[in-house]
Order: sequence, then C-alpha cells, then structure tokens
Amino acid sequence: MRSAVLDVPTLENLVSAAVAAPSIHNTQPWRFRLDPDTTTLEIRAAAARGLRHIDPTGRALYLSVGCALLNLRVAVAHFGWEPVTRLLPRPDEPDLLATVRLSGVAAASSTPHLYGTLWRRHSSRFPFSERRLPMPVRTELAEAAHVEGARLSLPDPVESERLLRLTIEAEHRNTADPDRAAESRRWVHDPNDDGLGIPPAALGPQDFRERLPMRDFGAHRHPDVLTARPFENRPSIAVLSTTHDRRADWLRAGQALERVLLVATAHGVRSSLLHQALEWPDLREQLDSRRLNAQMVLRLGYGPEGPPTPRRTADQALHEEELSAAHRAR
Ligand SMILES: Cc1cc2nc3c(=O)[nH]c(=O)nc-3n(C[C@H](O)[C@H](O)[C@H](O)COP(=O)(O)O)c2cc1C
Repeated sequence: MRSAVLDVPTLENLVSAAVAAPSIHNTQPWRFRLDPDTTTLEIRAAAARGLRHIDPTGRALYLSVGCALLNLRVAVAHFGWEPVTRLLPRPDEPDLLATVRLSGVAAASSTPHLYGTLWRRHSSRFPFSERRLPMPVRTELAEAAHVEGARLSLPDPVESERLLRLTIEAEHRNTADPDRAAESRRWVHDPNDDGLGIPPAALGPQDFRERLPMRDFGAHRHPDVLTARPFENRPSIAVLSTTHDRRADWLRAGQALERVLLVATAHGVRSSLLHQALEWPDLREQLDSRRLNAQMVLRLGYGPEGPPTPRRTADQALHEEELSAAHRAR
C-alpha cells in the first residue's frame, strides 16, 4: 500500500500517459487539473477544439476523452494507486467529464502489461499483410471491450464488405461537404509548437483498388493527388458498440476503444480507425447489425508501426486554464 502523495514528476508522467491517447484529428480536446486536497485529477472537455461540423454532438470528443481516461487509469495503477473513477460527476459542471481520485488503497494492478503499450500505440494507416488475427487474440480484444462495458464484434468478410461500403459512402459525403472538408483540412499540418493536428507524414496512401476507404484528411477530392497502393484483400474490421447512447456511454466507449487498442498493441497488432460512417446518423444506424449503438469502426492487422503523431506536453494540458486566463488578461 502507498499513501497518496503525488510529486510533480509523477503528476507529469500521469498526464503524459493520458495525452498519448488517440483523439479525433489529434485535437486532444481535454484539459487536466489536480485538486490537491483530495488528490483527484479532473478531466474537462476543451470545447474550443471540438469539431463543430464533423462532430456536432460532441460524441467523438467524448470518445477521445474516454481514451485519455483509460490511459490515465492504467498509469495511476502502474504507480501503485487505485484509480477511483467517476464519469460526469457534477451535473452543474457539464464540461467536467470525469474525475480520477488516487486512492491510497492500492489493489494489485489489473492492467500491468498495458502501461508499457500505451506509449507504443500509434495509428497505422499503411497497408497490412494478409495474415489473419488468431482466434485467441480476437477473443481477448472482445473481452477488453466487455470489461469496459462495450461490445466488440469482428464480423465475417461479407459483413465487413458491407461496413466498408458504408464507410466509402461517408467518405464521399465528407469530401463533398465544404464545411466538413475545410474543418478536416485545418487539422492537417506539419508539427509546430502547439503539438496539435496531424502531420502529413502520418497519413498513409489510399487504397489503389478503392475498397478500403482510408480517410482523406486533406479532403482533396482529386484522388490523383494522393499516393495509391494496394491494401490487404481481406481486412480485419471490427465494430465497437454500446447498448445505450448517452454521454456516459460515449465515455465508456472511449475507454473500451483504448483498452482494445492497447491489448492489440500488446499482441503486435496494428490498428487504424475508420470513423467516417459514424459521422452521418443515417449511416451510423446501419453499422451495427445487432441494433446496438455503433461507436467506432476499427481496422486491425499486421504491418508497419506508423509514425508517432505529436502531442501537447503534460504542462500544456495541465495549465491550459491558467495560460488562457493570462492571454485574456493581456
Ligand atoms: C473518435 C476518433 C475518431 C477518429 N477517426 C479517425 C479516422 O476516421 N481515420 C483515421 O485515420 N484516424 C482516426 N482517428 C485517429 C486519430 O487521427 C489519431 O488518434 C490521432 O491523429 C493521433 O495519432 P495516433 O493515434 O497515431 O497517436 C480517430 C480517433 C478518435 C479518438
């Protein structure tokens, strides 16, 4: 057992672990604050970095914060505390999405192997090999989602093709919609000091056969400006869903997504996300054949690791409130 005394390097380590999580368009739509009296970390939504056109309900923002929350829980357990987590703890503060209290009563970490993997997980948008996911790995991925209150299905090739067709339709709509296209384009740029957005080098090629709709973040509309290569013939596609579709369910789905991605990473399985069809209500409705609420479409497989994408520092994520107050005061 250890007492809940949190020093600055450990605090920074915890927040760095949290911000290593995936987020839509690498917007990192979160900010952190420590309440020193109760040794509780608060995660708030950074609404200014929400995607107004692509994600009008904020569902993808909640999913992103849920991913960061899972990483934070894993890191807190790694350092020997029990992460006592509450979702949406104060109804009068809707931007407070979760709190994690560092309890001195340390149960043995149930996630010892995941801490190392959270630093190694990247999106890999490159072609994968034809190697199939072994059954024990598929089972473990489904269990990872289940532990966090979500359902992961890994459908057969016929159903996977149907999901890809819905994603292709969404991709067409995204590039044809001027507001969404412009919003997407704004988040693709070479890394600069703010550590936000996606560097062009992290974006892979497009599928030569146009069967696997990798997201065209630059919304080029002219496929000839994009490099095209053949992708895997039979991609391993998974759908993550929840029974309900409230704000707390979106946070649960995010935690489940990140746990699935970390377990995949632990097995050497790469991943990229195909979120396009989730962004159109009529297409989203068709994604889960069990009539659950689809929250994410994943592509899993074996291939190149994918380059890291920059992050804001723990310091930036912790002190955003103070920094923006200082800017306003100038
Ligand atoms: C809710 C959500 C939606 C996302 N949608 C897509 C997507 O449609 N296509 C894609 O390639 N990546 C998608 N991503 C992955 C992010 O672009 C990626 O996590 C971010 O750029 C950081 O890079 P990293 O995952 O390599 O750390 C999504 C991530 C989240 C959390």
